[in-house]
Amino acid sequence: MTARESWLLRTEHTVYEVALADTGQWAELVAWGPHGVESGPSPLDWSRRTHFITPADLAPAEYIPYGLRPFNGADLVAQRPGAERGVYWRFTEASADADRALRLVFTDDTLGLRAALCYETVAGTDVILRWTELTCVGDDELRLERFDSAAVNIPAADAARLTYLSGQWSREFQRTQLELTRGRFEMGSTQAVPGHAYAPWLAVQDAAAPAEGATPTYGIALEWSGNWHITADAEPGGALRVRAGRVPHEGAVRLAPGATLTTPRLACAFSPDGLEGLARVWHRYERGLTGDRMNRPRKVLYNSWEATGFAVEAASQLELASLAADMGAELFVVDDGWFPGRADDTGGLGDWTPDPKAFPAGFDDFIGQVRALGMDFGLWVEPEAISPASELYARHPEWVYRVEGRPATLVRNQLLLDLGRTDVQDFVLATLDRLLGDHPISYLKWDMNRPPTERGRPGGGPAEQQDLDAAHVAGYLRVLDHLRAHHPDVTVEGCAGGGARIEHATIARTDVVWPSDNTAPLDRLSIQYGYLHAHAPHTMSSWVTDSPGVFDPRPRSLGFRFVNAMAGVLGIGADIRTWTPEQRTEAAGWVARYKDIRDVIHHGEIRLLNTPADATCGVQYDEPGGARVVVTAWNTGRLDGAPLVPGRASRLRLRGLDPRARYADTATGTVLSGAHLLHSGLPFTWSAHYDAELVVLTRQ
Ligand code: DGJ
Repeated sequence: MTARESWLLRTEHTVYEVALADTGQWAELVAWGPHGVESGPSPLDWSRRTHFITPADLAPAEYIPYGLRPFNGADLVAQRPGAERGVYWRFTEASADADRALRLVFTDDTLGLRAALCYETVAGTDVILRWTELTCVGDDELRLERFDSAAVNIPAADAARLTYLSGQWSREFQRTQLELTRGRFEMGSTQAVPGHAYAPWLAVQDAAAPAEGATPTYGIALEWSGNWHITADAEPGGALRVRAGRVPHEGAVRLAPGATLTTPRLACAFSPDGLEGLARVWHRYERGLTGDRMNRPRKVLYNSWEATGFAVEAASQLELASLAADMGAELFVVDDGWFPGRADDTGGLGDWTPDPKAFPAGFDDFIGQVRALGMDFGLWVEPEAISPASELYARHPEWVYRVEGRPATLVRNQLLLDLGRTDVQDFVLATLDRLLGDHPISYLKWDMNRPPTERGRPGGGPAEQQDLDAAHVAGYLRVLDHLRAHHPDVTVEGCAGGGARIEHATIARTDVVWPSDNTAPLDRLSIQYGYLHAHAPHTMSSWVTDSPGVFDPRPRSLGFRFVNAMAGVLGIGADIRTWTPEQRTEAAGWVARYKDIRDVIHHGEIRLLNTPADATCGVQYDEPGGARVVVTAWNTGRLDGAPLVPGRASRLRLRGLDPRARYADTATGTVLSGAHLLHSGLPFTWSAHYDAELVVLTRQ
């Protein structure tokens, strides 16, 4: 066998080797795994030819167009409008920056298309970013029907286990699994945001191996805030081939001569340590995305939405603010309802000035009183939204997505601004600059509560040339980038009716995100459990709310709700006016304990201890350096008075500790050996009133 041209990318602990096919028609994956995995025969060898299909249909191709790959899924479908579909390119050139970056170029001169497959490793992580640049090099424009970011090929002997995060509004991020032996799995969104139904994230393992432990685990995450899809095919060549990319709302996009379309980045991660190990890879990557802002402590907030709803007015807000400050809150956020016409969800959106009736002494006077309590002030906005009853709509009906001559669908009684328009972006920027410039606002919650329905821009030209989905994403990112550059001290929370817009492009430009509107204790536990598989605790905003509250009525203690919320970024969203003095004192105690350990929660490496389906579950956070270990623990089982059987049901076996070291519980002074914590587990004596705990262990 002659040596093929090949390239090796190297991350902190992994390698990714790509070789050129003998025909020069595609590049294919040779090895992906821990350092050294590349020396040996490739597990993706597809040389057992199968009758009736082409070699390209079998190959673990990195990126291959329809035309070259006629039968099995292709990553790119392109044509000259009116002509046959199909790309028949050949390898043109490669450029590599040592083992850190790679660019492989393929060209189809007949069609007039050049494609660059781009790879970049992320320093200090086990993540490789991949994307594709498509350039129209001919005289005729091109029509791109499918233009994924990249494909990854994963060896799976008989079946692959797919782990994904699915749900709906108020039940986002449910960890879901299936085994794929044949056929195709697909998920995605056409809602202009990633959506509540699926996160743009997938983990793949060989189904013959356990999900946790020393199981090679591969993951992808698409860094795109708009429409998307991820497909996974059990391929005849033996691999599971995962393809991911954006989906143009208009069915295709046009590429003009000389123009380049750059796809979103697909982050590709590997861990030899199961789903939990993969979660740690993603968390490290997300801490890097946050940059210097990682060193800014995430403040304990109070948000008044669940307490007052739309009935926002100074007196009741100040009553809440005073109580929140007494409990140790560091930030007071006024949610929806602070602007005129917003007595309910039928009006007001677009008219972003404080309602003088709600703040009779002036908005600044109100903010001043909040700040005098020792808290920062934060405000909710929904910049892309517009109420038909607003003054903004009367002035600019043309700013709304619509299809000429067709009725507009209302979702939550509102319409959506076409944020792809520069004039709309400028309006949003000016609005936010004015609010942040005129008032001492330290925190902005950016919400979005409806997807676009009649998604058209009358007069804007043929739909395929407008690429409205990409334009909206570009507008959204432009505004977020502006906030970061021009208001660097303002903390930004990303929200879309709960967790409908959470992916890396948003996480890189916000400080926290809101995973779900559902804060009911047991529901939230499973939302957060799924969320932490993909995203880091420092991004996970979470509130203590009343129980029973808006959602799941299963009662849980105040302690349970606090430990739940402090597993990420702690907030309080309950109507604390109704709390007893004892409850407020207890709450203040939890807030104080959280402040002591939030650094470990936000910077530590996590381990997921059991699942919410187990009677006792928890999250272990290891402080970098190993001095402290924090455990958030919950009892999820029935607490009906029957004595709990001591043993596994009320213990959590910790992981990764030094068995010879001794660890002291800072609250009780109890000292346990690492060996005991690893092998017998951390014991809990649960009861009906004691169903959660925060344990801080200090290494002796
Ligand atoms: C949906 C958000 O997810 C909630 O937290 C709240 O801000 C409401 N919108 C307000 O309308």
